[in-house]
Amino acid sequence: MRPLIAILLSVFLGDTADAQAFMTLKGHGGPIMALAVSPEGKLASASFDNSIGFWTGQKPTWLDGHEAAVTALAIDDQGVIYSGGDDFALRIWGKTAKELGRHKGKITSIAISPGTIASASWDGSISLWTDEGAMIEDLPYPGAGVNAVAFGADGRFLYAATSQGLLWLYDLGEDTQRPLAKHGFGINRLIVGDGWVAYGAVDGGTRVIEAGTGNGIADLTLDRRPILSMAHHAESGQLAVGDGQGFIMMIDTETWKITRDFRAARQGPVWALAFSKDGRTIYAGGLDDVIYAWPVALLDRYEPSIGGARSFLRDAGSMPNGERQFMRKCSICHSLEPGPSRKAGPTLHAVFGRRAGAVADYVYSKTLQGSKIIWDDDTIDALFDEGPDHYIPGSKMPMQVIAKAADRTDLITFLKQATSQEQTK
Ligand code: HEC
Repeated sequence: MRPLIAILLSVFLGDTADAQAFMTLKGHGGPIMALAVSPEGKLASASFDNSIGFWTGQKPTWLDGHEAAVTALAIDDQGVIYSGGDDFALRIWGKTAKELGRHKGKITSIAISPGTIASASWDGSISLWTDEGAMIEDLPYPGAGVNAVAFGADGRFLYAATSQGLLWLYDLGEDTQRPLAKHGFGINRLIVGDGWVAYGAVDGGTRVIEAGTGNGIADLTLDRRPILSMAHHAESGQLAVGDGQGFIMMIDTETWKITRDFRAARQGPVWALAFSKDGRTIYAGGLDDVIYAWPVALLDRYEPSIGGARSFLRDAGSMPNGERQFMRKCSICHSLEPGPSRKAGPTLHAVFGRRAGAVADYVYSKTLQGSKIIWDDDTIDALFDEGPDHYIPGSKMPMQVIAKAADRTDLITFLKQATSQEQTK
């Protein structure tokens, strides 16, 4: 029996994001607003398209019921999904899918402690529900719209962050509340760990404080704003922070040091983050309808000396158009150097005249493995004129089109020179 199990397991792992490969999950028809991972390791995604995707590998099951964008998600320890939306509705997707209740504004955040669900809204309300759907109580008004809620470990304390920059601590045992921290700008996201609370704010502020006293533990603020998403993987001690400029930074919660920092979204903000069950993959979502699954081990290490400007060592404005196209649209995933690279895509070194799927140490999708395409001016032009999902359907490369013919021509001219054999020293 053993070998059979091993084969099944490897097939299974090969099909899920726990495998160490870059992957894109496509299907949503709008930006991704929230992500959560179930106890069995399945990913749930909430989107502007009013639906929730529940993914088995790269295959979604759609949960439809919200009448507007789905903006908040949480999954309990039984694997039951809760969602909140711009339709003000809190929904549960258990054996029967139904509406649990409503706020008077958009739902921004859902937190779960065994048996209790907390939901928060822009209207300033925070409601507690039983997992059967009975309303327990509305908590006292925190003075402004609420952007995030999170439970402390034993469910007695609830933390709530407001659009005016207050972090409230509700003691549900004693029925009291007090401000724990005051930040000059709205706080968007909260994570509660073992004895600490981390928060991210509109001004880019990323801080960690003691859960009971509010005393500072670490300030991890970089020069990017706003902070829009956070995720925590307790077992591996990783905290991930996503911002409006498309970067994700990873923080070690033992040392409170930034370990990795990289540009994760092709364009725009990282609105949603979640770790895979084993903590080896970080899922990210934002504007472009796609969920990216990045293997943590492959992400750029943090180099404080160059910080967030790393991707553009030279001012983009001074680059020729073709190089700028490459830096902006390709360089996060492709190197131009020969040899193995740590990036998500194969190196483009010597790509002209090469058959598709031919870099020896790179694991391609089936589409490219068996492809007869030879990469040249015409085929690379067609690739980004039509977009990879039309030109090479099934490819691992995210969909993207370069609409202007002149931009494609400039990019190809740059690539030809930058990838040629003679370039190498
Ligand atoms: C988010 C990551 C990502 C971005 C951005 C990206 N690619 Fe890719 N690219 C990939 C992946 C992954 C593959 C491998 C596809 C497969 O196996 O199906 C790939 C494959 C390719 C290939 C085929 C290579 C081969 O050996 O067959 C070419 C050519 C290519 N990309 C060019 C580009 C160019 C030019 C850009 C910028 C306009 C770009 N890519 C942007 C991830 C990316």
